[in-house]
Amino acid sequence: MTKQFRAYRIHQSGGEIRGRLETLEWSDLAPLDVIIEGHYSSVNYKDALAGSGKGKILRRFPLVGGIDVMGTVVAAKSGGFQPGESVLVTGCNLGESMDGGYAEFIAAPASSVIRLPAGLSGEESMLIGTAGFTAALALYRMEQMDQSPSKGPIVVTGASGGVGSIAVDLLASQGYEVWAVTGKQSARPLLERFGARRVLDPRELELGTRPLEPAKFAGVIDNVGGELLTRLIPHVDLWGNVAAIGLTGGAELQTTVMPFILRGVSLLGISSNNCPLPLRQELWRRLSGLWKPPHLQEILAKTISLEQLDQAFQDVLERKVTGRILVDLRKRA
Ligand SMILES: NC(=O)c1ccc[n+]([C@@H]2O[C@H](COP(=O)([O-])OP(=O)(O)OC[C@H]3O[C@@H](n4cnc5c(N)ncnc54)[C@H](OP(=O)(O)O)[C@@H]3O)[C@@H](O)[C@H]2O)c1
Repeated sequence: MTKQFRAYRIHQSGGEIRGRLETLEWSDLAPLDVIIEGHYSSVNYKDALAGSGKGKILRRFPLVGGIDVMGTVVAAKSGGFQPGESVLVTGCNLGESMDGGYAEFIAAPASSVIRLPAGLSGEESMLIGTAGFTAALALYRMEQMDQSPSKGPIVVTGASGGVGSIAVDLLASQGYEVWAVTGKQSARPLLERFGARRVLDPRELELGTRPLEPAKFAGVIDNVGGELLTRLIPHVDLWGNVAAIGLTGGAELQTTVMPFILRGVSLLGISSNNCPLPLRQELWRRLSGLWKPPHLQEILAKTISLEQLDQAFQDVLERKVTGRILVDLRKRA
């Protein structure tokens, strides 16, 4: 067994946060239940915030980044995992308070580890990653609250991003009319191929500013937050649901109670990191079958190695990426 491995570790020194590729020793692995040989990870917005130091994501330093990983089990002390089994971990504090997935070897608690479902390759599972899992969690919660295609269109904001593009693909495949809202004109053809009925710049939505505005759509999957979310909520139709996922446009939300008490609108919080294991397993089962996004290969923006992470973080934060960046943990630049 190799005694050394490569990992992208994030340090804080003199008030500055910076990540770099390092060689770690086997003894650096935390004493957790399952040791995984990493095959793939991905780049999420949160990874870009953490690795660039632009957001306060990490709860201790130094820490290996990466909130997602897929690979094979090397050894397991609990959970019934067998060596050689393909598994994945998304969220569950990986890359936040525990060493994360940007490494050739990863230690994880058994309670966070999911067997790779039949129907998904390792590569596909990380194309989905936290982004796709979160889109599925949003749809699950909305349908628990009686959202259905017959109620009308669903707006997806930040539609060209990881969560957004998978949400568009997933919702359209489930029969929803999707209005994809994006600031990227260049993403229009892709989003239309995924089945978006309308692809709109936020301004084309012609959103008002009053506490209650004419109903225009039946629900929202929001990755942007801030002013856009503030102005979307008053336009949601009776008993519609708004899944609050992201904050790329701002963390603030200014609203009144009007949409909630006069239209029965529900604001649903989506926290993929804290999703309980049974629901996590159920969502991965769906994502490998009925809810498998039909255009996964087109969602792949590019595949990179650990050496290329810094550039990828910059591209994500500068809003240059459409779809998902896959990290091949065995690739050398
Ligand atoms: N709650 C959860 O469990 C959870 C899970 C995953 C992600 N998230 C959050 O969800 C958001 C999306 O994550 P992601 O991984 O999909 O990120 P991503 O791939 O970088 O996509 C984010 C998208 O947001 C839009 N955007 C970026 N900067 C913006 C700005 N300044 N103003 C308005 N829109 C902007 C862009 O879409 P367009 O160019 O198409 O407009 C961009 O493609 C992030 O805030 C992330 O932290 C939350």
